[in-house]
Amino acid sequence: MVKTAKLIFDGKTFELPIVTGTEGEKAIDISNLRAETGLITLDPGYANTGSCKSSITFMDGEKGILRYRGIPVEQLAEHSRFVETAYLLINGELPTREALSRFSGLLNDHSLVHEDMRAFFEKFPRGAHPMCILASMVNALRAFYPEIPERTEEEEVNITFSRLLSKIRTLAAMSYRISLGHKVVYPRHDLCYCANFLNMMFDSPVRPYTIDDDIVKALNVFLILHADHEQNSSTAAVRLVGSSRVNLYAAISAGIAALWGPLHGGANQAVVEMLQEIHDCGGDLAPFLSRAKDKNDPFRLMGFGHRVYKTYDPRARIMKKMCDIVLKKLKQKDPLLDIAKRLEEIALKDSYFIDHHLYPNVDFYSGIVLRAIGIPLNMFPVMFAIGRLPGWISQWKESHEDADWRLHRPRQVYIGLKQRDYVPVDERG
Ligand code: CMC
Repeated sequence: MVKTAKLIFDGKTFELPIVTGTEGEKAIDISNLRAETGLITLDPGYANTGSCKSSITFMDGEKGILRYRGIPVEQLAEHSRFVETAYLLINGELPTREALSRFSGLLNDHSLVHEDMRAFFEKFPRGAHPMCILASMVNALRAFYPEIPERTEEEEVNITFSRLLSKIRTLAAMSYRISLGHKVVYPRHDLCYCANFLNMMFDSPVRPYTIDDDIVKALNVFLILHADHEQNSSTAAVRLVGSSRVNLYAAISAGIAALWGPLHGGANQAVVEMLQEIHDCGGDLAPFLSRAKDKNDPFRLMGFGHRVYKTYDPRARIMKKMCDIVLKKLKQKDPLLDIAKRLEEIALKDSYFIDHHLYPNVDFYSGIVLRAIGIPLNMFPVMFAIGRLPGWISQWKESHEDADWRLHRPRQVYIGLKQRDYVPVDERG
């Protein structure tokens, strides 16, 4: 029996179907609401709005659960590699050995970037934020890799997926090298995805980069943990922009732009800046905690809180452990990690954070790992973008394959002036 919700408006009763997801999440289907009742819904920030049905990622924010295609993220972080997880997200199943090798081969084939693109990098002003460069360069890829009419749509889409996944990492490393005035290091066919990235970032003729399996593992874990997060702001941007049927490069570029913000992917950079500020001020946490609780102060404890998680973010738990593993391996001590752990301990006992359900999110500890590996601070959001790319691609693919898909075009409740007449400039008071 189809369940419905009843809406009584203007003396009439309307029945709205209830849609139930595989994990029991219930939604009121309002797709015919306006046509039948003349009403629209109002939901600032979309906190109560399901924009699509999706079979990619499941999150339970109350229980702290995150699964990609049904598989817990903890298992993927422990056993998988980023490329395999990307395949899982995009194709729905873990690859066979042969499929994984074909997929890795494609990424290898597409890892180089058109040499003419280097000129763009060189013309960005020194000090330009790498997210600005990345969003522009990903959009520009379309100009360098236009559609080829002889290819089927499926072939074109698959090539575009591989190109994006592979080139984003080359573009990120190139932008770093060029920003330093250093020679670009090309991708190598004998290295896996993460080792290749680290080598492109850090190898130098005077100081060859030694690839360490534990650091490669840490990078894999970082990227896997960021690989998808259902309808977050940047993914919603990719789906919305993609709904106009613009090319995938442009849609991903929009996702990168949305991710850049400090409330989203820019938070990993903001957390380390905040921890550094605490450190530079002598390590006293009290003023920062009271600022975070002060309604009249815009300051927030970065790396804390989440729209969906009302408990500990499962990704943060893994990232926290990873901090200790990486620092031990690299024989480093990071005073910011001690500050972060103290901050977490105090905040989790503080009634403000308890009452607001504010717990560490993925960004709280990830910056410590990135910093230990040698990733510069302003590239932290770029690392998030590399990780999130398979999620954006799979969500874009799902939306394009959805028979019910329509142009995303929300409504509004207009609260401006009623109709009035144009006043010529000389008659305006
Ligand atoms: N520090 C202090 N107070 C906070 C914080 C925080 N980090 N986060 C939320 N609050 C308070 C907020 O002031 C509000 O209080 P009140 O109800 O008394 O007015 C209440 O909690 C709800 O806040 P909100 O902004 O309505 O909640 P939201 O669901 O829209 O925001 C958030 C989620 C992530 C934007 C927010 O928690 C935040 O700004 N956190 C800091 C930035 C951050 O770490 N972002 C990374 C998110 S995880 C990575 C990703 O997936 O993007």
